[in-house]
Amino acid sequence: MTATLLDGRATAQQIQTEIKDKVAAFTDATGTTPTLAAVLVGEDPASAVYVRNKERACRKVGINSQLHRLNSDTTTSQLVDLVQQLNEDPAVSGILVQLPLPGQIDDLQVLDLIDPIKDVDAFHPTNVGLLSQGRPQFLPCTPHGVLQVLHRYDISISGKTSVIIGRSDIVGKPLAMLMGAKDSHLGPDLCNSTVTVCHSRTPDLPSITKQADVLVAAIGRPKYVTADMVKPGAVVVDVGINRTDDGLVGDVDFEPVREVASHITPVPGGVGPLTVTMLLENTLTAARLQKQVGVASP
Ligand code: GUN
Repeated sequence: MTATLLDGRATAQQIQTEIKDKVAAFTDATGTTPTLAAVLVGEDPASAVYVRNKERACRKVGINSQLHRLNSDTTTSQLVDLVQQLNEDPAVSGILVQLPLPGQIDDLQVLDLIDPIKDVDAFHPTNVGLLSQGRPQFLPCTPHGVLQVLHRYDISISGKTSVIIGRSDIVGKPLAMLMGAKDSHLGPDLCNSTVTVCHSRTPDLPSITKQADVLVAAIGRPKYVTADMVKPGAVVVDVGINRTDDGLVGDVDFEPVREVASHITPVPGGVGPLTVTMLLENTLTAARLQKQVGVASP
């Protein structure tokens, strides 16, 4: 069997067209344009690329973007000052502080300061708590992107066994909450999964991954998931983006796994474009929350 490719670029394009219409309607109704403020500290090349992609995506859908660049020797207190200023600026709908931050900065002090109503990454404890209680005001971008690509290809996870490799705050943990939730804004097929979260210390990982109807790789190790770890016919979602001498590589050993799975996301062109797209959606949600216009849970 050669798996069907889950095309993240095409899916992202389709969703961005929908967001563009919603942004135009919001701007017409309120006379204001949703605005994303991105903060980039230091010279990390991968972060610079991500931020540039986010700015380009904003432009495509009619969202304003601001880029705040700070030197790599920025202190926590300087970054705190900037976040406070952005919190108070009524022209700023959403704030994104690009990670990783340089080592001298206290990440949590900065991220915890972002006003939860402008927290388009959904990293703030208030937003994590709301998500865990099944009443999110923002959905975390990458986990939401994973659900969207499954949704757009009519793949159901309900009643299925799902395994997530990786327990990060950004992907593994929130994705497990969403996949195992009682309901979903995307309908009954995108929840009610029985989810196992594995990690680097999980013994006999293949015995667990081989049970997965839906296998999500989010561990940040190139080609970590090999064909012998995958149940024939499984849906395989690769969240990894690893820069190697061979270029960008996912967490899945793509070619051999493609021969075992029923569906698979490529890298690049899989989940990555959806992460950026869901950030756009969250920026519009943030603008709505601040204007109290057409606010509905995501
Ligand atoms: N760095 C890698 N992924 C992310 C993300 O989703 N949000 C932010 N702010 N930084 C990141």
